[in-house]
Amino acid sequence: MKERFYVTTPIYYVNAEPHIGHAYTTILADFMSRFYAMLGYDSYFLTGTDEHGDKIDQAAKANGTTPQEYTDRISAIFRRTWTDLGIGFSDFIRTTEKRHVAVVQRILKKVYDAGDIYFGSYGGFYCVGCERFFTEKEMVDGKCPDHDRKLDYIEEKNYFFKMSKYQEWLIDYIEKHPDFIRPDRYKNEVMSLLKSEALEDLCISRPKSRLQWGITLPFDENYVTYVWFDALINYISALGWPDGDKFAAYWPASEHIIAKDIVKPHGIFWPTMLKSAGIDPYRHLNVHGYWNMQDAKMSKSLGNVVTPTHLVDRYGNDQIRYFFLREMTFGNDARFSEDVIIDRINFDLANDWGNLVNRLFNMVSKYFGGAIPPFDPAEPAERDDLIARFGSAARDYIGLAKVFQTSTGLEKLWEFIRYLNKYIDTSKPWQMAKEGNTARLSSTMRNLLEAVYAIAVLLSPALTKSCQAIFQALHAENKPRHPESVAALSILDTGKKITDPGILFPRLEKGSEEAGAPKKADTKKQGGKTMAAQSDGLVDISEFGKIDIRVAKILAASRIEGSDKLLELKVDSGIDERIIIAGIAKWYEPDAIVGKKILVVANLKPATIFKRTSNGMLLAAKATGSDAPVLITVDDAIPAGAKLG
Ligand code: MSP
Repeated sequence: MKERFYVTTPIYYVNAEPHIGHAYTTILADFMSRFYAMLGYDSYFLTGTDEHGDKIDQAAKANGTTPQEYTDRISAIFRRTWTDLGIGFSDFIRTTEKRHVAVVQRILKKVYDAGDIYFGSYGGFYCVGCERFFTEKEMVDGKCPDHDRKLDYIEEKNYFFKMSKYQEWLIDYIEKHPDFIRPDRYKNEVMSLLKSEALEDLCISRPKSRLQWGITLPFDENYVTYVWFDALINYISALGWPDGDKFAAYWPASEHIIAKDIVKPHGIFWPTMLKSAGIDPYRHLNVHGYWNMQDAKMSKSLGNVVTPTHLVDRYGNDQIRYFFLREMTFGNDARFSEDVIIDRINFDLANDWGNLVNRLFNMVSKYFGGAIPPFDPAEPAERDDLIARFGSAARDYIGLAKVFQTSTGLEKLWEFIRYLNKYIDTSKPWQMAKEGNTARLSSTMRNLLEAVYAIAVLLSPALTKSCQAIFQALHAENKPRHPESVAALSILDTGKKITDPGILFPRLEKGSEEAGAPKKADTKKQGGKTMAAQSDGLVDISEFGKIDIRVAKILAASRIEGSDKLLELKVDSGIDERIIIAGIAKWYEPDAIVGKKILVVANLKPATIFKRTSNGMLLAAKATGSDAPVLITVDDAIPAGAKLG
């Protein structure tokens, strides 16, 4: 029988539309679900919306509508957003659905019958934003620290859940299951709460005189259930507790994902509720940090919101998935910045991974007419070494991603990707072609194509669309996708013609805030004609005239730390002194080119390369079959600034 994996997101409040914080958790859950499916697990993924309570009631009123109409509308927006983002949830639960309401009432009844619910009076400071009472210790200047809003003192008769009864049990359970809440810092947070003071019993009702928008208590129809008691139960109502097949199958494999804002309800309320109802605890609570914008916590109530759909329209779905999964170290906060998104796209996706795929496909078309060349055992190239390196990168990646450490996991794969780019540079397939060493060239290309396929398999839970494009381009849509099956780098069919997947990740320019969307710098298909090419492939003289090519003198040149490809050149263009970043470091020593006069495109839009702004491009030529650029130099008699034309 297949092992199982059950992953959940928090169910999101419908008092506002989805923002990037929600998108992150949902994308992470989607990645985890696809990742475990790739490992062969039977994976189930639940998300949904939390629709009861004061907060929703008030939002509906503020929008001049009824809670039902309002929740239907916003819940549909969440659902549509996730569908538009290609999120493959297995189920989407709404707490206003009958199937959920019935389970909440059944659990309340069970806990009540067990003697764990009593009627009493309570006074406390209530935050509508958090939907919970705050202890004096938790308040800051009489305010909720998360919502920066003065808390209302409320006193009323209510029902209470005897949470304190399970305090010792929970301490003991966490001690025996040290990764129940992870990473450790959040477990420690829960443990210190549990150990520092006696837990207060949890107020689990609201009188209908104050709030009607909730689930009626099965034992007192004048009250509705407290929204957290209602909401947490979604994780099992969606599985058809108590006797649904899905509950039996998936609950033992349950992995909750939440952010640090809701650790207390998930780390304390939920396990004690489950214990009282006679249900086993979830397997793990996985807690991530917060995305911060300009140092302020980003949330609906603070108003600094970027919508997920807007981001994906701007940068692309795989690009945003990659940014989220790579940029946040699980458990820690991360800074949200569009500049960093662009850097990740340009460096990791375009320069490393996209470049590897494109240059490899180019070489295979050039040297083998696009047909997947055979592996030649007489000249294995570095096959065993590549298999070993892939094996070790895959092991590291899988081990880390399994425990939600997507950032460090992806970094391990990237080390291998970068290695492959370097390997191409040092093994120089173009030289093999020149020397007629077809056997070695063929093995080299085949090993690399297999490595690209194997990496795409591992990356497919993260980069869902572009990896499919690679599978198609390699005619490998129906090939095995298990990491173990691809580890021998021996999957593809010799002789099949690969098809150009095009530029997978166009480089982007950084646009200023005011300028709006960053410009896609290179969106044309690879191999296609760039610029304003007409259908006959010709450009007219006025179009050519737009390009300002000038003579420039190299004043200084230096290597860029951390890059083996780039030189930073300071040139005198006749109009100004400017910096040009050029990918010629492998072929030119900086000192050898200072003083040379070269040709540059002077009116190219500035581009950010390796965190530097490059103003223009130098012209170089490459002989057929060679990758080495030769700078076009001009006679010293021609002054800097002279225009070509
Ligand atoms: N409805 C409750 C959850 C009930 S679960 C039984 C709730 N909803 S919420 O809409 O406020 O969503 C909170 C969750 O959204 C966080 O735990 C996290 O998953 C995600 N995030 C919201 N803002 C976020 C950031 N700025 N950064 C990271 N994640 C954030 O709480």
